[in-house]
Amino acid sequence: MFRVGLLFTLVLDFENQHNLLACKIRKKGEMDMKTILTGIKPTGISHLGNYFGAYAPAITSLNSGVAQSFFFIADYHALTTVKNAETLREYNKQIACTWLACGLDPNNSVFYRQSDVPEIFELAIILANYTPKGLLNRAHAYKDIRKNKEKGDEEVNMGLFNYPLLQASDILTFGATDVPVGKDQKQHIEICQGIARAFNAIHGEVLTVPNVQIKKDVATIPGLDGRKMSKSYGNQIPLFCSSQELDFYIKKIKTDSSLPIDPKSTDCDIFALYKLFANKEELKIMENKFAVGVGWGEVKKELHRVTDRLIAPMREKYLFYMSNPDVVEKILQDGARRARERARQILNRVRSAVGVS
Ligand code: TRP
Repeated sequence: MFRVGLLFTLVLDFENQHNLLACKIRKKGEMDMKTILTGIKPTGISHLGNYFGAYAPAITSLNSGVAQSFFFIADYHALTTVKNAETLREYNKQIACTWLACGLDPNNSVFYRQSDVPEIFELAIILANYTPKGLLNRAHAYKDIRKNKEKGDEEVNMGLFNYPLLQASDILTFGATDVPVGKDQKQHIEICQGIARAFNAIHGEVLTVPNVQIKKDVATIPGLDGRKMSKSYGNQIPLFCSSQELDFYIKKIKTDSSLPIDPKSTDCDIFALYKLFANKEELKIMENKFAVGVGWGEVKKELHRVTDRLIAPMREKYLFYMSNPDVVEKILQDGARRARERARQILNRVRSAVGVS
């Protein structure tokens, strides 16, 4: 009897050890596997600045050998400002087509629309209980509205106030380890880290505290008026405008009134733009031209040539996806299915940790 009991205990022990080991391995495997995640708000036509500031670096980091990556369209975040259904649908479509045209490979990463993954919103409601209101009071977007426009709380919608909370949920729902974002998003990721830590302090290591990857060396792209290219300044060059339109925009870029024979400083917007598109040899030649004198018309023509060289193949893809919405929808639905699989696993852990069914 005793022997059988002992044997039984040993077997059980062995199984427990085995399970423990398997569990450790699985956990270690999960932890070792980098998961990068980033999102972009659909807010209308993208411009050249977005390409260099967001699309290109994100797609490069995706192709840099990370194990898993999640890219999504943050359409719920857009609801803070977009209040027209048709407009939002159009923005969603444009942004999906833009990602795909810029080289996002949906086989390599999980590409989805935030609104197709309800787990994100469930987690957000849970996380709200671990988020001090004061933390969100300090979020820049909310603070700026209160400060600069002297708006009262009556004019701030809760979507805006909760924006960082939803963003935290976007990240934590997938156990992202790394979140590549622009400088302006740093605070949002720090808020996310704070919320995850607050949750873990009570429930154990349930949520992954993500690292923020601030994209360095991201050139600030000058807009048509010399200020940073930005939708809010209306000084942008649309990413996928036609070649003729591109020519039109480039001709509008501000230059000085120097003559073609005058030597020119390379410290100007046109040259900054040229640098982004030209190869080393082209750049050298252009530098020489600047040194001895060159007409702005000639420089602009050359800028158009190199810009269109990069953009044209992407533009073609963009137009293909825009006129084949079914193809895009299928990609997004497939992405949402894979995203939900992952989200459900994490949400189940969270539910069990807090005690909801
Ligand atoms: N707030 C981001 C922006 O405006 C978009 C975003 C939403 C995001 N959720 C995210 C970025 C999660 C990174 C991770 O650009």
